[in-house]
Amino acid sequence: MDSLKMTPWEVSGKLDDAAYRHLIEKFGVDIISKELMERLGKVAGGELHPFLATGLFFAHRDLNLILDDYDAGRPFYLYTGRGPSGKMHIGHLLPFIFTKWLQDVFGVHLLVQFTDDEKYLIKSDRSKKEVETVANENVLDVLSLGFDPKKTHIIKDYDNAKTLYYYATDVAKHTTISTIKAVFGVVDSDNIGKVFFPSMQIVPAFILSAITGKNIRCLIPYAIDQDPYFRVSRDVLPKLGYYKPSAIISKFLPSLQGQNGKMSSSIKGSAIFLDDDEDSVKRKMMKYAFSGGKDTVAEQRKYGANPDVDFAFNAYAMFEDDPAKIRQVYDDYKSGRMLSGEMKELSARKINERLAEMRRRRKVVEKDVSKYTFDPSKFKDL
Ligand code: TRP
Repeated sequence: MDSLKMTPWEVSGKLDDAAYRHLIEKFGVDIISKELMERLGKVAGGELHPFLATGLFFAHRDLNLILDDYDAGRPFYLYTGRGPSGKMHIGHLLPFIFTKWLQDVFGVHLLVQFTDDEKYLIKSDRSKKEVETVANENVLDVLSLGFDPKKTHIIKDYDNAKTLYYYATDVAKHTTISTIKAVFGVVDSDNIGKVFFPSMQIVPAFILSAITGKNIRCLIPYAIDQDPYFRVSRDVLPKLGYYKPSAIISKFLPSLQGQNGKMSSSIKGSAIFLDDDEDSVKRKMMKYAFSGGKDTVAEQRKYGANPDVDFAFNAYAMFEDDPAKIRQVYDDYKSGRMLSGEMKELSARKINERLAEMRRRRKVVEKDVSKYTFDPSKFKDL
């Protein structure tokens, strides 16, 4: 497992089941148990989100404490984010689709951090202006999923530098360089922004407690590469008098992120972007989608496809709201009743339908995007 690297700034090595078992052990996260699934399902009114049912969101920390608070009528809030590294492709929507489901189910406040500072400091030759422009576009993309305008708060780091920095110094004061080196793989030749930046990403995990003066739990949905931040935060926050944040953690979805497929932002022309027109979506799907199908029709009819690694299937499942339909397609595809061409067509149609809907909403959101701006005075009811 020594070849496996997993930090927010570098992911490499093979991400198979053994790798995840290793990460669970090493990071000290818990698998989401059957009991917890059932509790979540109950709150959701019966049906679990497909990302939970299929094990995409597979691990957690202290999720039970969030559910305890919810059951007792105590407030909690959600926090997630995005590093605005460029135009968003559909794989980038995964955590946000899931976060929206959580917000709908629990009806709670959500903070969404856009770490333009991180993207300026780390692995980037973009100017600050460029990073901020990308962040503004990404904000609209994320909001076009339809988050609750009254309870969704956008934190762009540069715009909120004063508030964030104020609390980041509390985190920094209680975090050593050796911790940052060990957890993030920072080395002496790195710029010092890398050493301080984690404090900025930890702030939203307690900012509502800091602002209101009440101790309010925070649940953070994230992909497992972001775990280093929140591992550190769980050591630091109790020292500041706050709860350790809870987490609900997803795998890196290779077939949507392009890790073992051909579709990614780094391969020119392959990823499906949110502003792609219908024909481009279809063309990219046919040309680049990594297929879990067999080489010939006869073989596929006989042995079936492997939907789990199939880009078309995973993209379809991500945009289809009806879990029963997803299960049906999964079975048809796996059993050989459905062929790869048909899978790709169905997937492209679903993607186009949802992208069109998002573009309509984006126009509305664009007009009053300021409504979503993070403002400490909005949390007096908490
Ligand atoms: N660092 C994250 C990224 O590069 C962005 C981020 C900020 C984030 N806060 C978060 C992600 C909280 C998940 C949860 O994508």
